[in-house]
Amino acid sequence: PDIDWDSLSFGIENCAPVSRWWLEKKKEEGREKEKRTRSRDVERRENPEKEAHLSSLFSFLLFPLSTTSLLLQFMYRARWSSADQGYQGSVVPYAPLQLDPSAQVLNYGQSVFEGMKAQRSAKDNIVLFRPDRNAARCAAGAARLSMPAVPEEQFVKAVKETVKANAAWVPPRGKGSLYLRPLLMGTGPILGLGPAPYYDFVVFGAAVGAYFKGGQLTPIDLVVEEQFHRAAPRGMGGTKAAGNYSPVLVTQLAAKKAGFADVVYLDAKHDKFLEEVSSCNIFVVRGKRISTPPLSGSILPGVTRASVIELARSKGYDVREEPVDVTAAMEEADEVFTTGTAVVVSPVGSLTFRGNKKQYGEKGKPTPVALELYEALTGLQQEAIEDPYGWVVPVA
Ligand code: COI
Repeated sequence: PDIDWDSLSFGIENCAPVSRWWLEKKKEEGREKEKRTRSRDVERRENPEKEAHLSSLFSFLLFPLSTTSLLLQFMYRARWSSADQGYQGSVVPYAPLQLDPSAQVLNYGQSVFEGMKAQRSAKDNIVLFRPDRNAARCAAGAARLSMPAVPEEQFVKAVKETVKANAAWVPPRGKGSLYLRPLLMGTGPILGLGPAPYYDFVVFGAAVGAYFKGGQLTPIDLVVEEQFHRAAPRGMGGTKAAGNYSPVLVTQLAAKKAGFADVVYLDAKHDKFLEEVSSCNIFVVRGKRISTPPLSGSILPGVTRASVIELARSKGYDVREEPVDVTAAMEEADEVFTTGTAVVVSPVGSLTFRGNKKQYGEKGKPTPVALELYEALTGLQQEAIEDPYGWVVPVA
């Protein structure tokens, strides 16, 4: 497709260039169809059998793809109806899902999702990053929400097949990536509170650029959220459940209105330790010591989080998974940064707590440790530097 890769950001607006291309393609197809219809009128009169065959082919080719919701051209879809059969599915054209109003997911939110990226590498491969980790987290989330897990091998194969079918949507190296969204949900109908009788596993995605406004390495301004908590001890904050993400919107939208990029949550028990940002994990740097909240159950076990911990240790940093007091982050930290599949490694320019603002590094410039780890991570993810861990997985 003729896509302006320079205009990619992260969000539905990213779909604009793709949608424009798709709309043009559809218009062209419409004109083609008109031409064919005219010639078929002639053919129909002359050869009714051939006409019947052609029209059945044609109806397949015009399988309705929504232009308003278009992300990728194809998605993977599998359904689980019984333990014997497991998840049965394949790559299909991107299309809306048809759900019963009594679908479990619509009523009781039985759903987990994943975030992954396919990238064009320096070796000109299309590669994934630690897809086994996403498969494992998805399976853990499925268990937490009483859903049958997608086996790891099937999960990874589904993601690879989705990428292969949509290879034209993987941006050129350095322009962005193909963000993939595996989604597992109880789609079967049920009215009393209970697990769904059947489940759908879907993988769709979109070409994306930087997550936060301003570009990948532009430091973001965060505010500490004081009214709401994100997750409770022994709750499900550590699960990538759909239900963990909409409650953050009320605070996120208010923060954005006040000029912040996002909020940082405090822990629900002591109300003083940093937890995570709405969509990513958080790290605090003091000299060579890097701290990040431990996986106590309320923190999302980020794949980027785990990778950055390992990379930072390999570079000689003393990385500790330990509670990080918000006042220590305000008073003692040299740097703060966030990690996530969508955000990658994002430097934090400032943290605001109870009206006080702490600035990190030089205004507008990425802080050094965040930059070093961003380069180490993305270099490895894009096969520009050696991957000693076996994290990078080619799609083909
Ligand atoms: C990701 O980083 O992939 C996520 O799933 C976060 C999402 C809220 C955009």
